[in-house]
Amino acid sequence: MKRVKHALPLARWPSREEAQRSLLYSPIPIGRRLVAEQRTWVPAMVPWRATGDGFVTPEVLDWYARFARGQPGVLVVEATGIRDVRSGPLLRIGDDRFIPGLRALVDAVREESQGHTRLFIQVIDFLTVRRRPAPEAFFSRHLVVDTGLRERLAAALGEARWRDTPDAEVRSRLVRDRPLADAVLTSRDLEALDYGYRERVWDLDLPHIRDLPRVLPGLFAEAARRARDAGFDGVELHYAHAYTMASFLSRLNVRDDGYGQTRGGRMRLPLEVLQAVRACVGEDYVVGIRYLGDDVVAGGSDLEDAVAFGTWFADTGADYLSISKGGRFEDARQPKVGEAVYPYTGESGYECMPTVLSDERGPFGRNVPLAAAIRRAVRAAGHTIPVVTSGGITTFDQAEAILARGEADIVAAARQSLADPDWFLKIRLGLGGLVRRCEFTNYCEGLDQRHKQVTCKLWDRDFTPGDETVRLASDGKRRLNAPPWRPPVAVRGEPRSSGEPSLSVTEIVRGEPRSGGEPSGEMIEGRPKGT
Ligand SMILES: Cc1cc2nc3c(=O)[nH]c(=O)nc-3n(C[C@H](O)[C@H](O)[C@H](O)COP(=O)(O)O)c2cc1C
Ligand code: SF4
Repeated sequence: MKRVKHALPLARWPSREEAQRSLLYSPIPIGRRLVAEQRTWVPAMVPWRATGDGFVTPEVLDWYARFARGQPGVLVVEATGIRDVRSGPLLRIGDDRFIPGLRALVDAVREESQGHTRLFIQVIDFLTVRRRPAPEAFFSRHLVVDTGLRERLAAALGEARWRDTPDAEVRSRLVRDRPLADAVLTSRDLEALDYGYRERVWDLDLPHIRDLPRVLPGLFAEAARRARDAGFDGVELHYAHAYTMASFLSRLNVRDDGYGQTRGGRMRLPLEVLQAVRACVGEDYVVGIRYLGDDVVAGGSDLEDAVAFGTWFADTGADYLSISKGGRFEDARQPKVGEAVYPYTGESGYECMPTVLSDERGPFGRNVPLAAAIRRAVRAAGHTIPVVTSGGITTFDQAEAILARGEADIVAAARQSLADPDWFLKIRLGLGGLVRRCEFTNYCEGLDQRHKQVTCKLWDRDFTPGDETVRLASDGKRRLNAPPWRPPVAVRGEPRSSGEPSLSVTEIVRGEPRSGGEPSGEMIEGRPKGT
């Protein structure tokens, strides 16, 4: 694709009165009992701030408290693992011992938003992804030398002796001869060599993968119950991007046990999970779904699938649909040796978090047509549940026009909210001119890719060295949270926007890691790459 650099859309900011009359700042019901005060939304963003075993830290609290001060209608906590396994600084909700920390997070958001922001948590399952090995390590340790490989080797070399040569000799022969390896290794082995080993939901020869339909409804349901017990207003099932549930939905899913292949088969587990969650948390608790309007990979699901999925989710009792796009492993760039494949590096990744370096259409509001088509179908089926859109939304007029045209019911902004967590508040107060505008060049995403604490380039250098009131990232070079902002005295009075750091987190309860753990989910050393 030929890329050109796009300018940021010009911004006209509304007066306080215009903002107050707008659709964007009007309330919307979500589920049976909840009302979001505005149609503004911060979608899930992993900041790499949890402990290595998944607990909430003071840095996690500061991160969410900072967003809460901008008082978005809804704030969604990052992808949080439903299994009780180690996977780097990814929040987890796979055991009751995580509840106290999560409760502290809920309290922090309530306090800092002064009760104005509704708080959901995204829950995720993911399969194993290993780092790309050095070829020597792959051939000496990871490659399985089985009869099939020996047969192919014997045929390729025209020497029958390879059928029973010692393993070590097979390995050392292959490590020296890449063309030979290309000729005799399976495509999955070659992928493990060049990209790192990665499980698929259709690897039915692996017992823990075969068992996913048996195990996942309960794991998701328990996670949702913990979210409710911790005080979250709702739970968001992560059915998007590169992870387990999105892979069940994908047309690439060739499972032949009734949980793949046909659209109905691919939907089966996602619906069973939704039903199990609903049965566990009750009718009144908000259960939303984030999923893909388009996989954007060859052979994957497209909008036609997504429209059908949306209607089925609504029929089965989902309280909202949040539409994302792409972010798949299948087209990800080859990682360096020692690194893991990252699902935002290929075309599908681009579509998930589009940058100003784009095709003619540009990155702004690029994914709205997906949400619009899904919303039309869901409405035609008689459902009124809100549909959330995201992707390159960065001005008031953009957001308002999406709502006015009925393309979505709620507008989410991830990177713009990262660049300026106060932007919703500034606009509402008629101070849009003060918004620090995201440049959509994905410095933050680059940090995410390298498993570094996520910050924004527009504020991470904004401090005086030696200023002890500013908390820095672990590299000591970057501001860990957006600079504080207070509305000028003339407009203050209603929503408070306090300075930082105002949270005193006295205790985050930690339990002992449980031994045993769940099947699957061994994962890369880190969170599920991207989320
Ligand atoms: C640093 C970072 C982390 C993200 N983590 C998640 C996540 O945990 N779950 C998720 O569904 N999307 C995640 N996303 C994707 C965003 O929610 C959003 O869909 C995407 O950035 C496009 O919206 P935007 O153009 O407003 O940034 C992440 C994005 C960024 C930049
Ligand atoms: S780092 Fe860049 S893309 Fe990310 S939020 Fe900041 S300005 Fe936007």
